[in-house]
Amino acid sequence: MMSLRMTPNPQLTEDGRLRHLLTLDGLPARILHQILDTAESFINADTGEVKKVPLLRGVAIFNIFFENSTRTRTTFEIAAKRLSADVVNLNIGTSSQSKGETLLDTVDNLAAMQANMFVVRHSAAGAAHLIARHVAPHIRVVNAGDGRAAHPTQGLLDMYTLRHFKGPIHNLRVAIVGDVLHSRVARSQIHALTTLGCPEVRVVAPRTLLPRDMQSMGVHVYERLEEGIRGVDAVLMLRLQNERMQGARLPSAGEYYKRWGLTPEKLKYARPDAIVLHPGPMNRGVEIDSEVADGKQAVILPQVTYGIAVRMAVMSLLAGGQT
Ligand code: CP
Repeated sequence: MMSLRMTPNPQLTEDGRLRHLLTLDGLPARILHQILDTAESFINADTGEVKKVPLLRGVAIFNIFFENSTRTRTTFEIAAKRLSADVVNLNIGTSSQSKGETLLDTVDNLAAMQANMFVVRHSAAGAAHLIARHVAPHIRVVNAGDGRAAHPTQGLLDMYTLRHFKGPIHNLRVAIVGDVLHSRVARSQIHALTTLGCPEVRVVAPRTLLPRDMQSMGVHVYERLEEGIRGVDAVLMLRLQNERMQGARLPSAGEYYKRWGLTPEKLKYARPDAIVLHPGPMNRGVEIDSEVADGKQAVILPQVTYGIAVRMAVMSLLAGGQT
């Protein structure tokens, strides 16, 4: 296999297969469709349940999460088990990181335990890329969220959910709403939507929570929520990321809710059959009203379930498994 440094796209092998999943930026539509179709094959069409398959028997997958997680870490674990892999969750809180061990020393030691795949979440953008460049050629790396940069499996499970409920992405108008500035989810969603041919990707945010490069990413920018979601097929809400908010000029939570919180009244500006997504965890009463979060148009819990199938698809494709 070619070395990572020599490969034009470090996520792909020389013959164009997925080698690591680090970002959706630059991944071809062919690969995105392959992941979504593979995920679909893992869901029982009659019951909606995620299947158990023997594809990754003998494969050792290490979840190393340096940031907290409920959904991503757990669904990666479930996905690995449904693929019949051996899964290890490193508890960073009780690991030797607290004694000053470096990230790469930790990775080397886990690799010596015969890891085949690392699933990595880290507060530093680029952490998963660093590990992918460092590990031996047979080891695969999945980015489970790095700083503000990327959360590729979240972007993919959001595409799966959109496709499942609303049909092909190239027929949809979609609005991404909220704290875009601090959101790795928004970046992954935008890359996936544009690659899959979404004809209208809108971004709705207060000016202070809007990154400078949005226009160059091919999206339409709105400041007013009512205007931004008018007539869309799907509203992709984002969490207000208080933990990344140092120095951000932001209205109070009450003011934010008044202007950008998705209430049943505001949701009426979208199409009547529009769906509402949220990656979680939700700040109820800040970016989303409970009536919307728990309402008929919300597909927030199905997103979590589809996350299992999408993560199974990613890990099986990385490991070279066929469905
Ligand atoms: N959506 C998401 O990444 O949630 P967790 O932080 O709980 O994994």
